[in-house]
Order: sequence, then structure tokens, then C-alpha cells
Amino acid sequence: MTGTCVLGVTGGIAAAKASLLASMLVKQGLDVHVIMTEAACEFVAPLTFRTLTANPVSVDMFAEPGEWNVKHVSLAEAADVFVVAPATANFIGKVASGIADDLLTTTIMATRAPRVIAPAMNSGMYANPIVQRNIETLSALGYRFIGPESGRLACGDVGAGRLAEPERILDFVLHVCAGTGRPSLAGLRVVVTAGPTREPIDPVRFITNRSSGKMGYAIAGAAAVRGAKVTLVSGPVFLPAPEGCEMVRVETACQMRDATIDAAQEADVVVAAAAVADYMPASFSESKIKKSSGFGSLELSRTPDILAELGSAKGERVLVGFAAETDDLLSNAERKLSSKNLDMIVANMVGGEDSPFGADHNTVTILCPGAPPETFPAMSKLVLAHEILDRVSAICHH
Ligand code: CTP
Repeated sequence: MTGTCVLGVTGGIAAAKASLLASMLVKQGLDVHVIMTEAACEFVAPLTFRTLTANPVSVDMFAEPGEWNVKHVSLAEAADVFVVAPATANFIGKVASGIADDLLTTTIMATRAPRVIAPAMNSGMYANPIVQRNIETLSALGYRFIGPESGRLACGDVGAGRLAEPERILDFVLHVCAGTGRPSLAGLRVVVTAGPTREPIDPVRFITNRSSGKMGYAIAGAAAVRGAKVTLVSGPVFLPAPEGCEMVRVETACQMRDATIDAAQEADVVVAAAAVADYMPASFSESKIKKSSGFGSLELSRTPDILAELGSAKGERVLVGFAAETDDLLSNAERKLSSKNLDMIVANMVGGEDSPFGADHNTVTILCPGAPPETFPAMSKLVLAHEILDRVSAICHH
């Protein structure tokens, strides 16, 4: 991702975590410019951010700039996205009240870029109705909030107030950037399945597959950022939950079927990105199967086909499937499109060096009934998620 990110850091112990975020944003390809408040400098030295971002760090409103420009205006105009992490109650209160008395509050007031705020504070402060009211005020004005998370806080309290993990803030920021200027999905209820399933053989063994869940998580995160009400039915994966999604965690294909059919009752769109196991062990052994038992073959039975079941009683719902193929990509995908009664199928080749399993990128062809296939260049799963949702949005509003 290219562009300029202004990262505001305010004074709290979580300012140290902001250095991780700065480094992650740089690794994504963004040109990161950090503005710190005076209080933030008590927790982290500006040199940390200067080194990580390779850009000067701004603190003082009236410092003589190297080149002549009005700093709060130039950074405000340069920003493609404006992130404040951690954001204190004081900062949030000032912005909500229109107070601009330092470089950070002045710059965020002047920017037209999308603004993401990651609060971090004591749980009592976070629960304070004044802070909550300020967050509501800013949310209504289009400021995007992520976190805080619950857990043990630096002050010793346990509760909501911990800065969201940098990985989650990064994911959210990238979705905000990728989603800006695309159609809103407000009002849509979207169910996404993601990840592999695990079909248990005995208490220690199971059958599974290589799905990482990244594609499904990207779609869920993208839909939520664009205003949809999202339920993410997830098999076991090692990914942070995307911001703003209702999570339903399952393990087996049967559990995924029940959770998805249940959630789909109220849904406008179902995107089946999960790699559901097609077969499960015909029986589960309560005790661990010993090698001395001579166990040599496994009897399997079919799992429910969740997407086919939804397609057989489709109603008004928009159904999107995935087809991962090693051969005959388009003919296999076309067959699945019609046999499962889908509105769209996202087809990609798997296996070989370019296999998308676990990767951050994917190369796909999208097929819709009666339309020519649309092949995309390799792109990040995050951006691809937004491309898929643009087409879903067009189908919904047709
Ligand atoms: N799917 C599902 N439930 C299953 C199997 C698959 O909902 N039990 C969904 C997947 O999430 C995906 C699409 O169906 O969207 C994949 O179609 P499928 O024909 O099952 O593909 P494969 O499992 O690869 O099957 P095949 O052996 O026919 O290639």
C-alpha cells in the first residue's frame, strides 16, 4: 500500500506499543509521519519513531521547520490516513470539543483524511460517561474507533482500556484505506465462513486442510469497515478477530453448518470462504487409537455441503462461493456456480509455487451467471476482499 500516514501518539504507557504499529505501517509501504504530544515524549523518545519511520517527528507547534511550511497544515494535507494510537481521554475530549491547542489536535482538525482513533486509558476513565459521549460524538462525525480491548491494564486494573493490539489496528487502518471511496454496505447483513474445519478421529487426531482463514477474515473485516453487520463463522485459525464482527467459533463441518444456517436466516449476503472438509471420520473413537491396535484405514462419511444447502433454498439472499482448483479452473468453477445456485464464485488455482494457502496475496477469476469471467492480477487478499464486496454490492442493488 502506498500513501502517507500521519500517526499521532499521545501520552500513555501504550505509547510504547505505538512504535510497533509505526514499524508495521512502514513495512506496508506507507510513508509514516509521527506527531507526538509533549506527554507522549515522557513515555517514548521521539528518536524511536524517527528511526523507525525515517522521517522527522513533530512535537512542537512553533518549532522552526527545516523547510518553510506551516506544519499542521502541510501534514494535514499530506495525510491519506490519520491514525492516533494511543489516544488518551484528554485527546478525545479535546477533539470532540473542537479544542486545538497543540500540533496533534490542530493537525487532526485540519485534515480531510479518514481518521482512526485507538483509545487507551484506565478502565474507569473509559467507562466515564463523558468519555463515552465524546466517542459517540466523534463516531457520528465519521471518526473510526478501534478498541480498546479488555485485560490487565498498566495501572493494575482489569477491564476495558487496553490499546488494541497493533496487528488489529494495522488491519483496521488498511481496511479503512482500501474501503474509502467504495460503495457503503450500511444496512446489509453479511455472514462469512472462513478457515478450515477439523474433523476429529480420536481425542488427539483430526483431519484438516491448509486454509489459513486470511481470505474470509479479510472479507469480514472489509464488510464491517464499510458498514455491514457481519457475522464471521470461523474454523480454527491463528488470526486476530477483525474489528466490528460478531465472531462464532466452530471446529467441525457440522458445527459450521449449524452456525452458518442459523446466522444466514437473517442475512442478505452469505460469503462461503471456508475450506470445509468434504469428509469426516464415520465414527469418533472416544479413546486414543493405539498403533498396537493395527489401525490401518479410516472409514469416512460426507459432511453437509453448507453452501449447496443455502443454494437450494436461496430466497432473496446473495450467495458467494469459492472454488480452489488444481485443474480446469473455469469449468470446475462454472459447474459449482450453477450446481450450488450461486450469484458469484471466486475461483483460484491452488498448489504449486503460487498457492494462496497462508499467503497474503491471491490471483482470482470471478464468475457470475451470464457474465464473462473477470480475471484479476495478483493482489492482496485485503484489497481483493473490497473488490469482491464492490461486486456483491452491485448485485444487491440491482
Ligand atoms: N462448501 C461448503 N460446505 C462444504 C464444502 C464446501 O459450504 N461442505 C463451500 C466452500 O466454502 C466454497 C465452495 O463450497 O465456497 C467450494 O465448493 P466445493 O464444490 O465443495 O469445492 P471442493 O470442496 O473443492 O469440492 P470438489 O471436490 O468438488 O472440488
